[in-house]
Amino acid sequence: MQTPSSGIQSTLQEHRKFPPRPEFSASAHISTVAQYEQMWNQAKDDPAGFWGEMANQLDWFKKWDKVLEGTMPETKWFVGGQLNASYNCLDRHLLTWRKNKAAIIWEGEPGDRRTLTYLELHREVCQFANCLKRLGVRKGDRVALYLPMIPELAIAMLACARIGAAHSIVFGGFSADAVADRSNDAQAKVIVTADGGWRRGKDVPLKKAVDESLKKSSTVEKVVVVRRTGWHVDMVPDRDYWWHDLMSSASADCDAEPVDSEHPLFILYTSGSTGKPKGVLHTTGGYLLGTTMTSRWVFDLKEEDTYWCTADIGWITGHSYIVYGPLSNGATTVMYEGAPNWPDEGRFWEIIERYRVNIFYTAPTAIRAFIKWGDDWPNKYDLSSLRLLGSVGEPINPEAWMWYHTVIGAERCPIVDTWWQTETGAIMISPLPGITETKPGSCTRPLPGVVPAIVTKEGAELPANSGGLLVMKQPWPSMLRTLYGDHERFKQTYFSTVEGCYFAGDGARTDEDGYIWVMGRVDDVLNVAGHRLSTMEIESALVSHSLVSEAAVVGFPHEIKGEGICCFVTLKTGDGNDSLEKELISHVRKHIGALATPDKIRFTAGLPKTRSGKIMRRLLRDIAAGREQTGDTTTLEDFTVLAKLRENDD
Ligand code: WTA
Repeated sequence: MQTPSSGIQSTLQEHRKFPPRPEFSASAHISTVAQYEQMWNQAKDDPAGFWGEMANQLDWFKKWDKVLEGTMPETKWFVGGQLNASYNCLDRHLLTWRKNKAAIIWEGEPGDRRTLTYLELHREVCQFANCLKRLGVRKGDRVALYLPMIPELAIAMLACARIGAAHSIVFGGFSADAVADRSNDAQAKVIVTADGGWRRGKDVPLKKAVDESLKKSSTVEKVVVVRRTGWHVDMVPDRDYWWHDLMSSASADCDAEPVDSEHPLFILYTSGSTGKPKGVLHTTGGYLLGTTMTSRWVFDLKEEDTYWCTADIGWITGHSYIVYGPLSNGATTVMYEGAPNWPDEGRFWEIIERYRVNIFYTAPTAIRAFIKWGDDWPNKYDLSSLRLLGSVGEPINPEAWMWYHTVIGAERCPIVDTWWQTETGAIMISPLPGITETKPGSCTRPLPGVVPAIVTKEGAELPANSGGLLVMKQPWPSMLRTLYGDHERFKQTYFSTVEGCYFAGDGARTDEDGYIWVMGRVDDVLNVAGHRLSTMEIESALVSHSLVSEAAVVGFPHEIKGEGICCFVTLKTGDGNDSLEKELISHVRKHIGALATPDKIRFTAGLPKTRSGKIMRRLLRDIAAGREQTGDTTTLEDFTVLAKLRENDD
């Protein structure tokens, strides 16, 4: 199946189908196909009417004048309306019986535990909001958060939202350089961090990285440090403050600041196909509505559910489906600090058993690791509380889907394979567990308000089973509004490929039932263990090493991570050796972080290039994957380069 203009080929053939169980459908929020179709058609034909109705699910300080203004890419939602995300996630529940319901059930990697009720979470958020104010943070400022998966991370996010400051979370696996780049780009005024965090029993020295990053950033005035591991850290007077010191004298009285619906809620950096990370900006009303409604529709969240999303809050999945979506719904959300295989490979299943988790949302890369570790681990635990399973981050291979369904779901739990992106803010394409007949490997159909199409580069819609570009034809409330500080790049990146449509880089096809099968990125973005990494970013890191002349980075199929990182490197002089390979690997880790650790470095005298000097990545991808090079090589400048690479193939 191939179309000449997209060049995207799909080889996956999967015919198994799993209808929803009637018991599940009977009590689901969306329980009939007719209900879904009615919602979907209304949202398509009358987005303002549909979303205006939905927005009544949120608490507004001032009702909007207009639901939707403008067309893509310049859209505004709930214009004139005022609300506060922290109020919606906390205060409004305090007026109900939920005030003493568990909001966050947290477990640290060493086994320490903490449960925060809505009332307790509200108190700490108000206190920390006052601390931020005391440090000079004002409405409209940016605060960088570089923290482990501890409750203070959620508290800090909601405290920022409470006073109208935008948070910019940097995943704890990123390096000092990455923290500096991101805080500079966002012009962050304050960084909140911790002495360290726990990962597989080892320390992750976060404060040390912040100290290093501050040598390169001029905007950060204050640093707040949570004591987590207890290791020694250097505290700079009048710059660094302990979280607990600030909190001990902070008042718990802090009204939520009414902000415009289009007021920035957060910036989250993500990799694009050029070197510099993109600061995806989300605003308050639309984002909160998107995450609130999709949590309810897709996870079928009920009052009595215990819900666990295993993502790190440093990624969009954690923002939307550990914090904002579940808390806005008044749900109980589980948060775990550490690794799935610490102290052993049963940790996740032990957590599910301990808290009687009902809804479990994880990533294909984790599922593949569980499969490798063996069924004995999950089989040791009582997983009968589970009623729904979710997957996110990359296409789930049908075999992993079947394992998830059989071994974890006991053939009882529906699986929601949710497709979305940092840029979309909320889930876009996913089964609805009460109505959708699922097929392993397909994220199925668009949610209400989502109008996708699969098109050629020229924008022509493709018939079933033809691979093409996945685009959105209509705006939706939780879409990104801009790339921070670079509106041109925003327009260029997402709205210039296909006229009038949003496009963020995935290829897909529909099948004869109209189900969508996402085939992966079509740009130079890798998806390593569900994390987006730009090949260009890794190349820039390599080239910054004094011995490297040129580098080309490509992905190759990897059993656990989905995609592995293969780097082709040419040196200024001399040949590569094992010690230089190690040095380059640690060089990349230092520049970007452990998540970007190359799997293979291959030294080469030259890179295959076209006559116009473009590196022929397609050929390198074939070599990295150990495939025969079948593609067209007629434009290759120097055939001997390719021959040499083939000779060296290991
Ligand atoms: C990929 C993560 C197939 C896709 C929420 C997308 C998926 C990128 C799926 C976004 C899925 C995510 N099936 N592919 N269910 N979910 N992707 O921004 O390539 O970290 O463009 O957001 O992950 O990654 P991001």
